[in-house]
Amino acid sequence: MKTLLIVYHSQSGASAALAHALWQGACTAADEDACTVVLRRAWDSGSADLSNADALVLVGAENAGALAGGLKDYLDRVFYPAINAGRVLPCALVLSAGNDGRNARRQAQRMLAGIPFTEATEPLICRGAVTDRHRQQCGELGQALVAGLAMGIF
Ligand SMILES: Cc1cc2nc3c(=O)[nH]c(=O)nc-3n(C[C@H](O)[C@H](O)[C@H](O)COP(=O)(O)O)c2cc1C
Repeated sequence: MKTLLIVYHSQSGASAALAHALWQGACTAADEDACTVVLRRAWDSGSADLSNADALVLVGAENAGALAGGLKDYLDRVFYPAINAGRVLPCALVLSAGNDGRNARRQAQRMLAGIPFTEATEPLICRGAVTDRHRQQCGELGQALVAGLAMGIF
């Protein structure tokens, strides 16, 4: 049984909408006997969830040219425990951004590489208000990650 862990932080609801779309896509692809999909707010999650995960998706925003504080706090908290656990997890990144997102991406990638977690996919940056296209992209990403886990690609 594989576990896909989705951790998100959201203030206005945009990142939450993306995370839920990703979760729905992942659940539609998940064979109940083969893969579990877990959705957690960053504030409510930590190393215990991570130690049960086989892949991680982080969803959050770029705020003031940086990774949103809730997601940064999550990475700060799990960084050393993850290093000490010695597990190299595949990780995907979804960012909600008004018009940019590149600084948040760089910051998250730097921390994830330091653990080190590997990039399962190219980061997805969803700019502006959340659209149906963004939801579709997130749903497809969830499906692809579950399929990859089930096939042992990661
Ligand atoms: C205080 C603040 C700072 C922001 N700074 C940036 C920024 O530097 N770059 C950007 O692309 N968007 C920026 N935004 C826009 C947010 O990234 C965007 O609204 C995002 O959808 C917020 O998602 P969330 O409310 O789910 O966290 C900022 C928003 C706020 C509230």
